[in-house]
Amino acid sequence: MDKEFAFNSDGLHRAVELMSRDFSSDQVLDLSNELPEIGMGSIAAMNSLAASILGGAARLGEATSFAHMDPPTPWITWAMTLWNASLNQNLLHPATAPAARQMEHRVVAWLAPFFGMNGGHMTPGSTVANLTALWSARECAGVTEVIASEASHLSIAKAAHILGLKYLSVPTDANGSMDAALLPTDLSKSVLVLTAGTTSTGAIDTLALAARAAWTHVDAAWAGPLRLSQYANLLDGIEAADSVAVSAHKWLFQPKESALVFFKNTEKSHAAISFGGAYLATPNVGVLGSHGATATALLATLLAWGHQGVAQRIEHCMSLARCLRDFVAADERLELYAEPQTGIVVWRPKDKNLFDKLLHQLPKGSTSTTSIAGGKWFRNVAANPSAEIDQFIATIQGVMAERVHG
Ligand SMILES: Cc1ncc(COP(=O)(O)O)c(C=O)c1O
Repeated sequence: MDKEFAFNSDGLHRAVELMSRDFSSDQVLDLSNELPEIGMGSIAAMNSLAASILGGAARLGEATSFAHMDPPTPWITWAMTLWNASLNQNLLHPATAPAARQMEHRVVAWLAPFFGMNGGHMTPGSTVANLTALWSARECAGVTEVIASEASHLSIAKAAHILGLKYLSVPTDANGSMDAALLPTDLSKSVLVLTAGTTSTGAIDTLALAARAAWTHVDAAWAGPLRLSQYANLLDGIEAADSVAVSAHKWLFQPKESALVFFKNTEKSHAAISFGGAYLATPNVGVLGSHGATATALLATLLAWGHQGVAQRIEHCMSLARCLRDFVAADERLELYAEPQTGIVVWRPKDKNLFDKLLHQLPKGSTSTTSIAGGKWFRNVAANPSAEIDQFIATIQGVMAERVHG
């Protein structure tokens, strides 16, 4: 057997040992322009990449990480990802992945009922989940148009473009939710996309609008996991949708690329987006052909934490966002864009001249920015249960005080 394909205990231990080191500098690897003619060997390749890969990445579980929808991942998912890479199963072929296919079915069966759906499948992200859902809408409901709010994720307009559907963008209200008064009255040829947790501000569209159109899809990429928490009622009405997209690599703390598309009538939806092939034992459902056993990491996390463990972590994130919201609301030098709905706090100093100064003095990776109606705002996303919110607030206070005294 070629040794490169055999279990290598020393190599794997070395990989784990490197993970535990503190590569503080972002060392950029000096790679040659040409593909190397002779390989340096696996251990040498790993050693030479360690500082750049492990040191050159943001640490999403750090106390200061509070900027993006990208969460830290629990170690159990690192173990599952390693197993997956070693097995390289293809869930397209039941023969290569009989157990992993069952695991994907089980994970979907566990989660779909939280959204009032009866099944679905995993996708490598919500861009693909949204595309898959709108594809099914076109096939099952004969829709010719996609309607979404101007705050919807770009993947919705992208899916409409790919599918040859018209795209209508509806303005938002002062909270960043779709302004329902501006919806067309005839939705008989439309798929209405409601967002549960917009990318920019975390706003939830009025989910009571579900079922008014020929097809309703809820893009719950960000806020969908709230359904497993004490905040489930924020997404009430989602169960009337025909399809739902949820990113597991956001608030379910999974490594990329992991998401789910759920359907109200999975049998019909899957049949509409399936293709057979002479060499396939079962039809190929959805956009992807070959796909891996991403489900095993999600299954392991759900087994390890249980429903309660998932809920606790999301609820803790919500409380971090609440602390920041309370601080901003109480400080008359700062303003909130709107009441945070789903763990995303959008705020800024009232003095516009302070915006850049504050941003530059906040810890790297603590804050992102967003532009709303031409105005610049700070955006904090509570995706990291280990974020130290008191420390973050103290830093903001420090910079503001410097400004007052300086
Ligand atoms: C609301 C919403 N929908 C869809 C997506 C796309 O998801 P993904 O990046 O998993 O493809 C995002 C990503 O941020 C999002 O915020």
